[in-house]
Amino acid sequence: MMTSRIIGTGSYAPEHIVTNEDLANVVDTSDEWIRSRTGIGQRRIALEEGTSRMAAEAARRALEDAGMDALELDIILAATSSPDYCFPSCACEVQAALGAEHAVAYDISAACSGFLFALSTVQAFIQAGIYRNALIVGADCLSKLTDWSDRGTCVLFADAAGAAVVQASESGLVHMVMGSDGVKGPVLTCTARTEGNFLNGKTPELGYIYMNGQEVFKFAVKKVPECVNQVLEHSKTSLDEVKYFVLHQANYRIVEAAAKRLKQPMEKFPMNMERYGNTSAASVPLLLDELNREGKIQKGDKIVLAGFGAGLTWGASLLEW
Ligand code: UT7
Repeated sequence: MMTSRIIGTGSYAPEHIVTNEDLANVVDTSDEWIRSRTGIGQRRIALEEGTSRMAAEAARRALEDAGMDALELDIILAATSSPDYCFPSCACEVQAALGAEHAVAYDISAACSGFLFALSTVQAFIQAGIYRNALIVGADCLSKLTDWSDRGTCVLFADAAGAAVVQASESGLVHMVMGSDGVKGPVLTCTARTEGNFLNGKTPELGYIYMNGQEVFKFAVKKVPECVNQVLEHSKTSLDEVKYFVLHQANYRIVEAAAKRLKQPMEKFPMNMERYGNTSAASVPLLLDELNREGKIQKGDKIVLAGFGAGLTWGASLLEW
C-alpha cells in the first residue's frame, strides 16, 4: 500500500523580533521568569503579514525544496486556528497565491496538533489512492488573538508558518495516532468571532486566548509520551531506533518531562522555542524544516512528530525519512 513521504519542507517567520525584555515593558514579567518557566527567549510577531501570507511563503519554500510545481498539487490542507477570515479558508488563499489550480484546498482546525492532523488526513487520501501530491501547511498568527494584558499567555504565543510537500510513495509515514478530548476543551480557548445575531440581541464580541496553563501542562506531559509509545508499539519500533522526537514547541519543561518519561536523551529532542516561542500549528513543521535544512535528517532516519493543544487534541506520527 502507498504511504505519505515528505519530499520537501519550508517555513516562514515574520522578521520582527520581540524579546522578553520588550514584553517586560508591556506586562509585569521578566526575561528570567519567561526563560526559566518556558525556555522562550524571543519570538517573531507579524506586523504586516497575515496567516495566509505566511502560509503561502512557507509553502513556496517547501515546493522549491521538493522541486515540485504548484500545478502538480492535488490537495492543499492548511492547519490553522487563526485564519485571516472565517472564509475563504487559508488553504484557498494559499492555493490562489501559488496558482495551484488543480488542487482542492481546505482548512483543518486542531490548534497546535493541526499539522499532525493534516498529515493524517493526507495519509488517508494517499492510502485510498485518491490523491498523489499534497501540500500541508501549519500556520498561525496568534499574536492577533492574544490578550496583551494577560502575562500568563502573551509571553508564550507567536506567529509563523511551516509547510511540507507530501507524495505517495512505497515508504515514508509508518504509522500515526490522533486523539481528542472535547470535555477538557475549556482549559484552552479562544472565543473570538462567535457571539451575536439579530435573534439573541448580542453583538459580535472580540474574544482572546484563555489558558489554564497548569492543566494544559499536566495534559501534555501525560499525553505526549503516551501517544509516542502507542505509535512506536504499533510499528514494532523501539525508542532507541528513533533519531529525533520533534515535539510541539510549547515549553522546554514539557519536552524535558517527555524525554524523561520516555527514558531518551535530550539530544534526541531538538528545540527552537528559545528563538520562536510557541507558534501553534507552525511549530512542528518549522522545527522539521530547520532540521532538514541543516542536513540533520538523512534518508532512512526514523523521526517521531508529536503535537498537542487546544480541543484538547493530540497526535503522533512515525516517519521514515
Ligand atoms: O500550545 C498549547 C499548549 N500550551 C501549553 O503547553 C502551555 C502549558 N503550560 C505551561 O507551559 C505553563 O503552565 C506556563 C508557562 C503557562 C505557566 O508556568 P507555571 O509554572 O505553570 O506557572 P503558574 O501558572 O503556576 O504561575 C506561577 C506564578 C503565578 O504567580 P503566583 O500566583 O505564584 O504569585 C503567576 O501569576 O507565575 C506568575 N506568572 C508570571 N510571572 C511573571 C504567570 N505568568 C507570568 C509571567 N511573568 N509571564
